[in-house]
Amino acid sequence: MGKMKLQTAGKQLRGTLTMPGDKSISHRAVMLGSIASGDTRVQHLLDSEDVRRTVTAMSNLGVTFSTENHDLIIHGKSLNELVEPKQMLDMGNSGTTARLLMGLLANQPFAITFRGDNSLSKRPFARVIKPLRAMGVSYVSKNDHLPVTKLGTRYLEGLVYELPVASAQVKSAIILAALQAKSQTTIIEPIATRDHTERMLAAFGVMVKREGNQIKIAPQTHLKATTIRVPGDISSAAFWLVAGLLVPNSQLTLKQVGINPTRTGILTILQRMGAQFIYQNESSDGEPMADIQVHSQSLNSTIITATDVPAMIDEIPLIVLVATQAQGDTIISDASELHVKESDRIATVTTQLNKLGANIEPREDGFYIHGGTPLHVDQPTTIDSCGDHRVGMMLTIAALITTGEVSLANAEAVNISYPDFFRDLNEVVK
Ligand code: S3P
Repeated sequence: MGKMKLQTAGKQLRGTLTMPGDKSISHRAVMLGSIASGDTRVQHLLDSEDVRRTVTAMSNLGVTFSTENHDLIIHGKSLNELVEPKQMLDMGNSGTTARLLMGLLANQPFAITFRGDNSLSKRPFARVIKPLRAMGVSYVSKNDHLPVTKLGTRYLEGLVYELPVASAQVKSAIILAALQAKSQTTIIEPIATRDHTERMLAAFGVMVKREGNQIKIAPQTHLKATTIRVPGDISSAAFWLVAGLLVPNSQLTLKQVGINPTRTGILTILQRMGAQFIYQNESSDGEPMADIQVHSQSLNSTIITATDVPAMIDEIPLIVLVATQAQGDTIISDASELHVKESDRIATVTTQLNKLGANIEPREDGFYIHGGTPLHVDQPTTIDSCGDHRVGMMLTIAALITTGEVSLANAEAVNISYPDFFRDLNEVVK
């Protein structure tokens, strides 16, 4: 794809889109199905580069897969039937694959090396290595960055651990290791993060108890195969929700979007800014979903702080874009986690949106965004995904309300979570 000319202002968006499967839930379905006894069927699995990393890693550990009517069938093995991989496990760009697998594979008796691409090799792994080390796993790495080698493990101890950063990846890694420990583990989670691991374990017959902000995991390695229906990804729907709000005369319907309350921060914040959505066909089977309809509306500024952040962590680049168009100035704080995502999102979002005429000031832990700023370029301008899928898609939506000529560099980054993004865009641009 490389550099790509973007659609700019002057069109409207209309139509209905079915959202690709949720990335977080897809990873978990593949991992848990791989260690469950029997065949697990996964419907509406996300087929993207990140999820393929998880499937390939599990194949390298001896798990086999087949497909049937677009469903993935996982021929599960128990944890003690996994085989020593012949090569390093390549996590590519996928932080979720890397961190969750470090937990899932924590008790394997053989050595496993995890490697990643340039971006992932710069991201922090101490946050997962530290608690897993305390449970008894030995690691070799340079400064706790990938590549990391886990040595053969003899046994794992339970742990009481308070998460120093609100991270569902770290929480999930500890939960997956804790299932294989000799005694109970308690995780203290100061601010609730996405609970897909806990919900999916329940679908595989393993109950994880939540008491207030504590999660209690009793040792249990027997998972029973099941059928998982992956909802549409709210993080992908978010691009269209924001596009539908910002592009004049638009109306979009997004089908079967996951609306797990630990993920709907984007809806809460947009509603706080004045947006109204119509929900239809709500259902709840492990993970709740609904169709969401949106139309163009004018919005007001807001203030975003610590308790708002985990439920919308991946959607903050979009909220920054919305805030450039809202009435009044928006402040986002307590979001320093954005520095260690697929790119340093405080830097990349600020630099790239300001190229389109936005007035955003980066802060150490977030942004100060001047609202009511029309986006415009005087001469042909290239903005850059910086290799970050969510930044690339947010910028493509920003271009839809920019006057002038705009191109996107490194457009192929969208393949990480939403390979059909540009096809869907063509479908709704009228
Ligand atoms: C994810 C958790 C979040 C999120 C990431 C997916 C998950 O990361 O940003 O895209 O699937 O658990 P952190 O755990 O680092 O916050």
